[in-house]
Amino acid sequence: MPKSDVRAFDVPFEQLKKQREYAALARTVLESRYGGKAPLAYVHTFGCQGNVSDSERMKGWLAQMGYGFTDVIEEADFVLFNTCAVREHAHDRVFGNVGALKPIKQNKPDMIIALCGCMMQQEHVWQKIKKSYPFVNLVFGTHALHRIPELMYKVLCSGKRVFEVENCDGYIAEGIPVRRDGSFKGWLPIMYGCNNFCSYCIVPYVRGRERSRSSQAVIAEARELIASGCKDITLLGQNVNSYNRESGEMSFAQLLEEINNIDGDFRIRFMTSHPKDCTFELLDTMARCEKVSRHLHLPFQSGNNRVLKEMNRGYTREKYLSLVEYAKKVMPDISLTSDIIVGFPGETYEEFRDTVSLIEAVEFTSLFTFIYSPREGTKAASMPDPISREDKGKWFRELTLAQEKIAAKRSQKMVGQTYRVLCEECNGGLLSGRTDGSVMIDFPGDESYIGRFVDVKVTACRNWTLSGEIV
Ligand code: SAH
Ligand code: SF4
Ligand code: F3S
Repeated sequence: MPKSDVRAFDVPFEQLKKQREYAALARTVLESRYGGKAPLAYVHTFGCQGNVSDSERMKGWLAQMGYGFTDVIEEADFVLFNTCAVREHAHDRVFGNVGALKPIKQNKPDMIIALCGCMMQQEHVWQKIKKSYPFVNLVFGTHALHRIPELMYKVLCSGKRVFEVENCDGYIAEGIPVRRDGSFKGWLPIMYGCNNFCSYCIVPYVRGRERSRSSQAVIAEARELIASGCKDITLLGQNVNSYNRESGEMSFAQLLEEINNIDGDFRIRFMTSHPKDCTFELLDTMARCEKVSRHLHLPFQSGNNRVLKEMNRGYTREKYLSLVEYAKKVMPDISLTSDIIVGFPGETYEEFRDTVSLIEAVEFTSLFTFIYSPREGTKAASMPDPISREDKGKWFRELTLAQEKIAAKRSQKMVGQTYRVLCEECNGGLLSGRTDGSVMIDFPGDESYIGRFVDVKVTACRNWTLSGEIV
């Protein structure tokens, strides 16, 4: 990027160069410590695809420092947990897993333990780690990802505990090495942070302000992915529809079009789309671009206008339904998925029923349904919440049951039809692949199909599991 185009949140090129030098220094220290044998890293990711993508970049740094990788925690010389703060459950799982490291480290005192990601941006969390988990060597938040080599070098040389938990608006660093988890499916971050402050959500507090990567950087990475054989690219951001909102450099719809125009046989997906910023123009672009999947993940959270207002979502049930109607009009085969929160503070049973009626009206392919979980520091956490956990559990089951009926009906309709499927896994002669609409189908075949597109005819549907055969 020319110097004049550098934005306030862009990490300068010289800073990245310095980090590569730190990586080389760390490598030298590790080589002498492990006698030339590659030390092993174990990296575990909690949370969303944004975190998975961050972990791929952290693994890129680790590889540059000379680490190999293992799935067996006891074998590891370096353990890294990339954490998520979105719900209590995610938070508890992290603490459970960190606690379980203590006896492992007792058997292997040289093990370096590091915690990073969204939870580590919360002061009450890192303070607790500092005080009660003395065996943790390194803690860093989401804004320090580009500085891992420097932090690791500090840990290696000083032997002291390092905490890097700066609370800021966030950065964009181009040029971090990436070690991807898969070869034919790729995560491609297009923006970071969030400005929406939905009243229940911790993400804007732990991920900083919304900022977009330049279209030039995104398109270059898309080209790289495609050239390396990637068949399924997912563009990532908390609110992809507001890509480049500040700069106006290139809209999200234009970006989709540009990536669609790259030569090759691949699919483009994106998440997450926010209904507040989703436009008919975007839906028209999807319809026009043959490589963009006929799949739209459009979280609505609640079907009731009062609750939506309290959530600070910025749209109404009617606006949401009009988007869905238009999407179905321009893409009759569109597959819709969504996120829902059950039991937001003050939600009544009648209001919850509006959520059920909305899913029945839309007929989603699948849903991610969550019981509301209060997050310290968010607006909703201080709202009165009179409904018991038990009642919320009942509502949750009611919603799940309603969705199961919808899914069964949808799956039944797929029997007899043929779909283009990307083969993802093979277990005992049974392949699993995903349709353009992100529906899984099982069918006989062998490993050689993995990462390839095949046409599959659906022959049966049992308990929402679809089976078929290659045609
Ligand atoms: N940016 C995305 C959501 C990211 S978080 C969007 O706006 O749609 C993923 C999902 O977690 C949210 O869609 C929401 O359904 C759920 N979630 C977030 N905070 C939550 C909380 N405090 N309790 C329960 N679920 C929550
Ligand atoms: Fe959270 Fe709302 Fe931002 Fe999504 S848009 S990450 S739900 S604040
Ligand atoms: Fe969790 Fe952070 Fe993603 S809180 S959902 S890992 S942005």
